[in-house]
Amino acid sequence: MKEKILDYLNKGDNYTSGDQISKNLGISRQGLWKHIQELKDSGYEIVAVPHLGYRLISCPDRLFPFELNRDLNTKFIAKKIYYFDYIDSTMNLAMQLGIKAAASGTIVLAESQTRGRGRLGRGWFSPKYKGIYLSLILRPKIPPAVSPVLTLLAAVSICETVKKVLDLEAQIKWPNDVLIRNKKIAGILTEMNAEVDKVNFVIIGIGLNVNNDKKSLIAGATSLKEQTGHSASRVLILQELLRRIETNYSLLEDKGSRIIIDKWRSFAVTLGKHVKVYCQHKHVEGQAVDIDQDGGLLIRKDSGIIQKVMSGDVMHCR
Ligand code: BTN
Repeated sequence: MKEKILDYLNKGDNYTSGDQISKNLGISRQGLWKHIQELKDSGYEIVAVPHLGYRLISCPDRLFPFELNRDLNTKFIAKKIYYFDYIDSTMNLAMQLGIKAAASGTIVLAESQTRGRGRLGRGWFSPKYKGIYLSLILRPKIPPAVSPVLTLLAAVSICETVKKVLDLEAQIKWPNDVLIRNKKIAGILTEMNAEVDKVNFVIIGIGLNVNNDKKSLIAGATSLKEQTGHSASRVLILQELLRRIETNYSLLEDKGSRIIIDKWRSFAVTLGKHVKVYCQHKHVEGQAVDIDQDGGLLIRKDSGIIQKVMSGDVMHCR
């Protein structure tokens, strides 16, 4: 209902009569007043003038599900949204929901995380109202070995989103760090629940720095605000990201991983570089020549032998 009320209030600069809104939406004046109070409590600035009606002055920058749903137009992504002002990690709840058979496309979203998780046991700094912290549950019909492609798909979708919404050029450092001007703007953490030959579900966790100022960024990181010099609407960015993920996911299902890998290559900063990939207690060093159809990085060692790595931390040497 709040979504519909806001649609009315958004229509023009003028006052909209309460009578008209309640009649059109089939609710009482009392009911409308209650919804308006709730919107005000959530940070919407709305003025009410007797005989004239209501007028929307400003909206808060919050990722409320009813804001996200407006004009989202996805088929299955974000049809169900779990939204929190704060949470330990969106990954934890998404994992529980996945086990409880939540539908593919369900998202868990938080304005801040107290124990945000990054790759390789690291944390993810998640200051309130600054970034996008999202976990998406997917139930892909692909073998477990192909699932790393979903991480690449998420990285590609982030690059496409920042280009479309803010005209920024992002690049991907294998496997899933999204960079702008060599600083990290987003990270992706993928977790899977699978049997030997069947993926039950995959959780794609995305952390994207949007409106962080320098003081709410860790060393080596950047934000969209820092890159453009102005704040951006997190709702618009998240909507575009969800649409991109859906489009790329449909491409993956219909045409296979090749098309996603090709897109990934077009954003890759790692290919062609001399790299050291640290995985567990070893490292592999050589030239990053390509990625293969399941998302593994192919490294040509000095001996000429090509070695494939599926995970690890990449250091670009030259
Ligand atoms: C990385 O680059 O190390 C991956 C970072 C992933 C962070 C996101 S934020 C939303 C989701 N919840 C988490 O706890 N982690 C992921």
